[in-house]
Amino acid sequence: MLSHLLHRAGIESVIVEARSREYCEGRIRAGVLEHGTVDLLNATGLGERMMREGLVHGGIYMRFGGKNHHLDFAELTGKRIMVYGQHEVVKDLIAARLKDGGQILFESSDVSIERFDTAQPSIRFRDAAGNAQRLTCDFIAGCDGFHGICRPSIPEGVFTFYDRIYPFAWLGILADAPPVCEELIYSNTERGFALFSQRSPTVQRYYLQCRPDEDINEWPDERIWHELQARLEGEDAPQLAEGVITQKGVTAMRSFVTEPMQYGRLFLAGDSAHIVPPTGAKGMNLAIADVVAFARGLERYYRDGSMTTLDGYSEYVLNRVWKAERFSWWMTSMLHRFDDQNPFDRKVQLAELDYITSSRAGAQSLAENYVGFPMT
Ligand code: DHB
Repeated sequence: MLSHLLHRAGIESVIVEARSREYCEGRIRAGVLEHGTVDLLNATGLGERMMREGLVHGGIYMRFGGKNHHLDFAELTGKRIMVYGQHEVVKDLIAARLKDGGQILFESSDVSIERFDTAQPSIRFRDAAGNAQRLTCDFIAGCDGFHGICRPSIPEGVFTFYDRIYPFAWLGILADAPPVCEELIYSNTERGFALFSQRSPTVQRYYLQCRPDEDINEWPDERIWHELQARLEGEDAPQLAEGVITQKGVTAMRSFVTEPMQYGRLFLAGDSAHIVPPTGAKGMNLAIADVVAFARGLERYYRDGSMTTLDGYSEYVLNRVWKAERFSWWMTSMLHRFDDQNPFDRKVQLAELDYITSSRAGAQSLAENYVGFPMT
């Protein structure tokens, strides 16, 4: 996305990517695009397939106490969200960059960054053919994820890290089946959390709260279907249509923030600087908001030589990052079963769910965060 935005502003960039194109395009991640992400994709010429294949949703269901409770985002905020897989966005972005002559150096290895505290940083790596390369540039964007090399390349003591690890994970599946409901269902039950999301009218994405060390081999398809149905228990329980499970995986849950997000001419964006637990699907939306701000800073720099907007990058994006951190932590806390939860904690959790689904103020607060704050 950053490379695409820079190209539109007439600024050259090179993407050094560790993985293959097939890997990037096939890696399954979350699938909810905030209102502002949808607008940005459309405004920058990337929205065509999304508008055709994506599913526009006007709200979500919260399920607890054996009943569905609807949150009508369209009515509460005037905005809707788009259900469209993150890897579909990645496919559209790669296609757009390659069509516009962009350079994506897939399957680069042994990457290291240097001299980013000077005006001429560089990146060393081996290209796909194994040849050693050195790229000299004006700026490095560290968009290399939580396990990437950029954040650990910064001298010790510069950054402050904020961290929370959750005592559970999500077992996620993709299945060829019709949807259980017209919108997403977030379900809080005594057996743990479940999320019923979608990818298309014929492909569904479902998740079950599980142990962080869950062994996927202990989850044959029948057990998954049984547990998903059990986490829809209660009055007028929707009946799941089963189908062929085409993908299974376990996702760890963690909150993490790095401050600041800049060191010299290295700017961190997305998961390299911050991660959220998946509840609420903020990860990619946050990464996109980061690079919109970074691209704006670079545009200013190349227009009039001023570093002012770039120097304000961290402070500007961290404001939004912390709001999404709070929201993702809050949704996670409200919806999951915690092993050390006592009966008081459980009652408070149910009271909170009742509050956000019965009070307009409560519902509006959730809805405003879910559809996303403006990307200005
Ligand atoms: C999806 C993932 C989420 O974390 C979420 O809150 C909603 C949807 C998804 O993968 O579809």
